[in-house]
Amino acid sequence: MITEYMKKDVSNILSVINNAALKYKGVIPDNCWHEPYMSEEELLNEFDSGVRMFGYKKNNILVGVMGIQELKDITLIRHAYTFSTYQGMGIGKLLLQYLFRINKSSILYVGTWKEATWAIQFYEKFGFVTHKRKKTIELLKKHWKVSLTQIENSVVLEK
Ligand SMILES: CC(C)(COP(=O)(O)OP(=O)(O)OC[C@H]1O[C@@H](n2cnc3c(N)ncnc32)[C@H](O)[C@@H]1OP(=O)(O)O)[C@@H](O)C(=O)NCCC(=O)NCCS
Repeated sequence: MITEYMKKDVSNILSVINNAALKYKGVIPDNCWHEPYMSEEELLNEFDSGVRMFGYKKNNILVGVMGIQELKDITLIRHAYTFSTYQGMGIGKLLLQYLFRINKSSILYVGTWKEATWAIQFYEKFGFVTHKRKKTIELLKKHWKVSLTQIENSVVLEK
C-alpha cells in the first residue's frame, strides 16, 4: 500500500500537500501562508535535494504522503500530509512507521510550524521530543533551507 513516488508524480503529490496544508491557513502567521502552499517547482527542487517521497493509496487514490531526506549523519522527515478527509484514520501513522523502518540513521529530525499543535502531538505520539528554542534555530539553519521568518515560527523535534 505504501510505495515510493517520483518526479513524474508531482501533481498527485501536490494535490495531497496543498489540500492538507489548508489546515495552516489562519493558524500560521499570514506572512508565512501562500496559496497554493507548495509549488511544483518547489517540490521538484526537493527531489533534486535528495528528498524521497512515499505515498499511501486508498481506493487507488493517493491520500497520504511523507518524505525522508538522508543527510550526512542524520535523517529528516519531510512533507508529511494526509488529505483532509482522510486525516485521523491512521494513514500518517503507517507512513511514519514505514519511514522508521527504512531510515538508516540513529537521529531523526522533523520540523513543523510551532502553531501546528496537532502535528507536534502527532510526532510526540511516536516518541519525538521538541527541542528548545536555541537548538531549534541551530538545527533549522544547519539542515533546512528556510527563511528567517519560518525559523522564528518553527519547532524541531527529534527521535
Ligand atoms: C499531521 C498529519 C500528517 C497526521 O496524519 P494522519 O493520517 O491524520 O494521522 P493518523 O490518523 O495516522 O494519526 C496517528 C496518531 O497521531 C494522532 N493524531 C493525529 N492527528 C492528530 C491531531 N490533530 N491531534 C492530536 N493527535 C493527532 C492520532 O491520535 C493517532 O494516534 P492513534 O494511532 O493512537 O489513534 C495530518 O493530520 C495532516 O496532514 N495534517 C495537516 C498538515 C500537517 O500538519 N502536516 C504536518 C507537516 S510537518
